[in-house]
Amino acid sequence: MSPSPPALTPAAITTRLRAAGCVFAEDEATVLLADAATPAELESRVARRVAGEPLEYIVGWAEFCGLRVSVAPGVFVPRQRTTLLVREALRVAPRRPVVLDLCCGAGAIGAAILAARSDASVYAADIDPAATDCARRTLAAQHRSSSAAGGDAHRWSSSAAERDAYRDPTPPYVYTGDLYSPLPASLKGTVDVLAVNAPYVPTDEIAFMPSEARDHEARAALDGGADGLALHRRVADGAREWLTLGGHLLIETSERQASATAGILEHAGLSVAIVRDDEVDGTAVIGRLGPAG
Ligand SMILES: C[S@@+](CC[C@H](N)C(=O)[O-])C[C@H]1O[C@@H](n2cnc3c(N)ncnc32)[C@H](O)[C@@H]1O
Repeated sequence: MSPSPPALTPAAITTRLRAAGCVFAEDEATVLLADAATPAELESRVARRVAGEPLEYIVGWAEFCGLRVSVAPGVFVPRQRTTLLVREALRVAPRRPVVLDLCCGAGAIGAAILAARSDASVYAADIDPAATDCARRTLAAQHRSSSAAGGDAHRWSSSAAERDAYRDPTPPYVYTGDLYSPLPASLKGTVDVLAVNAPYVPTDEIAFMPSEARDHEARAALDGGADGLALHRRVADGAREWLTLGGHLLIETSERQASATAGILEHAGLSVAIVRDDEVDGTAVIGRLGPAG
């Protein structure tokens, strides 16, 4: 008789995860156990995690600002440091803001803004169709829950959003393509909050990233070009065309690259400030279009 397989108790799973080097083994065991339908599925999940696959790809979601964000293999897993960008976006957003989450990945930033501001009209775009599939799922769920809570961005929407609602009455507005190119022209000059976490890792430094990023996330989600700032330049170049007067461009960057990112936004004609949050290790540059004040 062959020996029976080891029981998949929380303690046994935690031990296996810890042995594989998972720092938050106990928390991860809880997540893996949570909605596994069968013991076989649970065993497969644990084996994948022990082999180094990111937890978020195994369960299909990541936690961000208290929300469940849909993620699929290869799609960038939202990081806690990006909560700074959300906080700052909410701080500068006017009433009924038109928000564009550019390089949206799984749509975490747009969804978190919508969760906090049901009067927002949120647009999102990314070059990776796997990412925009996830963003569409997450933003659709957030739209449903915001509407159920009494908010209705489209009832209160700005004129640009109303024009798009007429053409495509089903939010969310998620577009696939290179930077601004897939966006509806009607959005030009109307964006109050342009929130961007584009890739900013210098190409040569990708090799030094943790395996979970380097080996599992799409290269295009990480690679910011030779100095890491190639996308920042392109985003800043286009920003004036899409922002409304007084609108803000917020870009996540690293502490080391912050002054270079700020210089790029300044060169694009925006007045800039750098914000930093040590607690989440987040850095962002905020640029404002229009007269100071
Ligand atoms: C660092 S990830 C951030 C994703 C998301 N904003 C977040 O914070 O979770 C960068 C994203 O930029 C997208 N991206 C890279 N180059 C792009 C381009 N030229 N146009 C649009 N999106 C691009 C990638 O596909 C990836 O989803």
